[in-house]
Amino acid sequence: MGKVITIKNNKGGVGKSWLTLQMAHALTLLEKSEDILYKVLILTSDSQNNILDYSGHSETIVEKTLEDYVKTGQRNEIRLRDNLYYMPLAKSNFSKIFREKLKRSIENLKSEFDFILIDSVPVLEIDQDFLEIADDIVIPTYMDKATTEGILRLMEEIDLNKIRAIVPNRYIKSKKSEIMYNDLKNNLNGTGILVTEPIKQSAVIHNFIEEGKTIWDSKSKEFEPFQIIVYQILEELLK
Ligand SMILES: Nc1ncnc2c1ncn2[C@@H]1O[C@H](COP(=O)(O)OP(=O)(O)O)[C@@H](O)[C@H]1O
Ligand SMILES: [Mg+2]
Repeated sequence: MGKVITIKNNKGGVGKSWLTLQMAHALTLLEKSEDILYKVLILTSDSQNNILDYSGHSETIVEKTLEDYVKTGQRNEIRLRDNLYYMPLAKSNFSKIFREKLKRSIENLKSEFDFILIDSVPVLEIDQDFLEIADDIVIPTYMDKATTEGILRLMEEIDLNKIRAIVPNRYIKSKKSEIMYNDLKNNLNGTGILVTEPIKQSAVIHNFIEEGKTIWDSKSKEFEPFQIIVYQILEELLK
């Protein structure tokens, strides 16, 4: 049975969509068992569907959305890479009936996909559903005061036992960000929540995103430091 991993932060711009895609692509490159690779699906509560842009599929025609699947059971998810699929979202308001069916629909997908990653933004209530259905939660964050306070509030609202990792992203090294990072790490020491090495705000990453490529689409050594951090997260999820 598949596992649901929700990537969550109430703040925009911290790298939720980007990290979701990098993690998902990384999972598809791992062996589930001999010669069998993991099959991964990405879902989102963001109707901007940035995952399509970041994976080089901005021009791909969307035929079926999460709404269609929940309402009719019909699916036609977009194949982003080998074993990596994306089910886009059409809009951002949902009826009560839709929400009731949503969780069951996702449960059904677990028999087909080893991992379902959810790129989650705070839209209405389905965000809550995506937290409830999650086996694991990963929190990308930005090392400034407002975002750090935001994740501390978020951690009061969600089930701490589900939080596997906090991932400082778009990190710009400074005295202040270093202190904040060390404080966060020390505060969570012993909780079982991993605080990864920070992922730098990087021009190579920026350019790669613009080209619709992930850090796994290149053999260049310059992506290694980022790949290592993504592996750190996956290790927690595969425990
Ligand atoms: N480590 C990074 N280095 C450079 N640019 C990044 C990095 N992580 C994300 N970005 C860029 O930052 C912006 C916000 O990332 P995104 O994943 O869309 O955030 P969110 O989904 O949390 O709103 C995007 O333009 C993305 O391309
Ligand atoms: Mg996003």
